[in-house]
Amino acid sequence: MAVLSLFPPGSTLEADGMLSVGGCRADDLAREFGTPVLVVAEQALRARAREYRTELAARWPRSRVVFASKAFPCTAVQRVMVEEGLGLDVAGAGEIVTALKAGADPATLVLHGNAKSDEEIAMAVEHGLGLVVVDNGDDVDRLEATVPDGGVQDVLVRVIPGVTADTHAHVLTGHEGSKFGLAPEAAAELIRRIERSPRLRMMGLHVHVGSQILDVEPFAASVAPIAALGEFPVYDLGGGLGARYTYADEPPSVGAYLDALVGAAREHLPAEAELIIEPGRSMVASAAMTLYGVVTVKRGPHTFVAVDGGMGDNLEVALFDQRFEAAIADRVDADGREPVTVVGRHCESGDVLIDAIELPGPRVGDLLAVPATGAYCFTMANNYNGNRRIPVVFATDGAARLVVRRETWADLLARDVE
Ligand SMILES: Cc1ncc(COP(=O)(O)O)c(C=O)c1O
Repeated sequence: MAVLSLFPPGSTLEADGMLSVGGCRADDLAREFGTPVLVVAEQALRARAREYRTELAARWPRSRVVFASKAFPCTAVQRVMVEEGLGLDVAGAGEIVTALKAGADPATLVLHGNAKSDEEIAMAVEHGLGLVVVDNGDDVDRLEATVPDGGVQDVLVRVIPGVTADTHAHVLTGHEGSKFGLAPEAAAELIRRIERSPRLRMMGLHVHVGSQILDVEPFAASVAPIAALGEFPVYDLGGGLGARYTYADEPPSVGAYLDALVGAAREHLPAEAELIIEPGRSMVASAAMTLYGVVTVKRGPHTFVAVDGGMGDNLEVALFDQRFEAAIADRVDADGREPVTVVGRHCESGDVLIDAIELPGPRVGDLLAVPATGAYCFTMANNYNGNRRIPVVFATDGAARLVVRRETWADLLARDVE
């Protein structure tokens, strides 16, 4: 069934038609944890992590997969990745804090950021992070001022490959003019400076072309421009593989993506180098769904189905025009569909979750399940209109456990000092 194929692998319909994810019925999840709730099928998450690891190792044995924490910066998710043998890409101090709590070996952490603060550089050095990805000369100034006498910090230099992928402009990063990294000429100069530094070890290069990329060519095309900068022990080729959000989406498989990427690496990079990849979105998107309660149904020339969440728990739509699909949890494949717009509860006309979708007779009290919300939804959750950020539940073989609780009114007031 088409809609079921967008839910986490292993999702089923119970005998009475109720959607079940990670072996847990949607109605039971809603009763126990309330709505909205972000439900992660833990086995699906683990399976994807293993798939990435084995597929990369099969093609380039001297390699590492590091999960881009920003896609789902939740301690429990980072812990799963650590348990599955992945490293973690951390963009900023907050993700270092949760990664360490998740039990990550600091040596497996890769720090990113185009504007790393003194505090973040200090944390990286103090905790012994494996790699700091230098984005600019100021990163080098800060590192040189922070690494103690006799100490050495391993670094990569982020290079703009000058590759434009077919994705939303807001998630493009490898094009000329990107705010991330340095163009090859400027990178070459910074590399020479790092090579002269007694406190830094120039380990290699980093490249990342963007996110939600649904073809493999841009990944392959990003390798040659960095190869021209010389031979190094490490190449971090970023993340960016697209996830499947809609019936129409056909993202490349992990294998096809790696065939292209590693193929380019074989052509252009030293055979003895270590390869790192940093998948985020494609690692987590399909492992989760968000369950909402339908609050109102306003029928008319346009029918609006308003749910109890929206841009407070899913900013992907407003920021990137990301299209999602949805199903009513107990009538996933029912007939009698009508065209509706699914909207959120926030005071913005832009708070539309799904424009123009057909649902079977939606009514107040229905549970609306939106698949593929594992990436960047938790990340960008916010308190708009006093929204209490939603909980995260792991559903595993029929057992559900809360890993992040819903915010409380007290949480909303906790930072007030007057
Ligand atoms: C440096 C870097 N690596 C990896 C990623 C992960 O990208 P994605 O979630 O598209 O796989 C990002 C996100 O844009 C990034 O900026």
